[in-house]
Amino acid sequence: MAIRSQVVGCGSYLPLRVMSNDELARTVDTSDEWIRKRTGIRERHLAADGEATSDLGLKAAQAALEQAGLAPDDLDLIVCATATPDETFPATATRIQAGLGMTRGAAFDVQAVCSGFIYALAVADNFIRCGQARSVLVIGAETFSRILDWEDRGTCVLFGDGAGAVLLCAGEGRGEVADRGVLSTHVYSDGRHHDALYVDGGPSTTQTTGVVHMDGREVYRHAVVRMAEAIDAALEANDLTPGDIDWLVPHQANLRIIESMGHRLNLPRDRVVVTVDRHANTSAASIPLALCEAVSDGRIRQGDLVLMEAMGGGFTWGSALVRW
Ligand code: UT7
Repeated sequence: MAIRSQVVGCGSYLPLRVMSNDELARTVDTSDEWIRKRTGIRERHLAADGEATSDLGLKAAQAALEQAGLAPDDLDLIVCATATPDETFPATATRIQAGLGMTRGAAFDVQAVCSGFIYALAVADNFIRCGQARSVLVIGAETFSRILDWEDRGTCVLFGDGAGAVLLCAGEGRGEVADRGVLSTHVYSDGRHHDALYVDGGPSTTQTTGVVHMDGREVYRHAVVRMAEAIDAALEANDLTPGDIDWLVPHQANLRIIESMGHRLNLPRDRVVVTVDRHANTSAASIPLALCEAVSDGRIRQGDLVLMEAMGGGFTWGSALVRW
């Protein structure tokens, strides 16, 4: 009988500090009107001084475990997607492992920037499908506020901090039970597009952390095409049509991109989960944050077909299809 990765819990955490567009406009040449119109963002959460990516990830992880009714030592693996690790090494996932008090299994990070959650989900799903793990915590956690140039209006208005976690367990069964879980993941990259979205620092080049640089128009142009391709790949692999999708949970970078993906799938607006207005772009954390919101407020229910897609620096992009 085929093993399938089934979602048994999810949790999220947002830092307490909220920064509005108006507050940003006091220090950088921008306006609430421009940010809302071009991106849909109204505000973002920012980590406090001393609050690390692992602190956010740990809180999301604890919430996911609690929802699932599992203990840290029930886990076989933690995969943390982040582009803003606490340190160059060890992996932020190991800090979360220690914070949870988990003394068995393994923990490592995955780096695919804004596509990180899809990549981490793909890795976790493959560990479960091949029988190497039975319970995996997939976390997306970021503190992008630490790698922004707060004088560059082209980037600093776009990002926020946060974390989300999804707990997957191996499920076997017949009929309806066997149908639930991760149906497919598709991941892609094309490293030729480095210069469109990158951080100008790192241990082996500048020995500094660096800040985000983005050619927004170029990223936008590729995002709509690449994410549409990843959606098509997911539908095709599962012999499904857009009409089968109950929820689109997209990476939250720009409301215009999100709406064009929803439109492409012919989905009514209220079937597309949107958090970009309140969270801004939280990179690898954006999909699990949106997922958790829609699960906890009762929108996503057992049996629903949930499609996720993302695109980020690299470029990297991908999609995942989950029967909840
Ligand atoms: O998560 C990874 C994936 N990332 C994305 O998917 C992001 C994709 N890109 C985008 O979302 C959009 O390209 C942005 C929101 C980043 C920018 O929107 P845009 O409509 O592409 O604007 P633009 O970069 O073409 O800039 C238009 C104008 C420029 O002024 P001029 O040259 O027309 O005079 C910019 O200087 O807006 C100006 N501008 C701003 N004005 C006020 C750029 N940033 C700002 C700002 N406030 N914050």
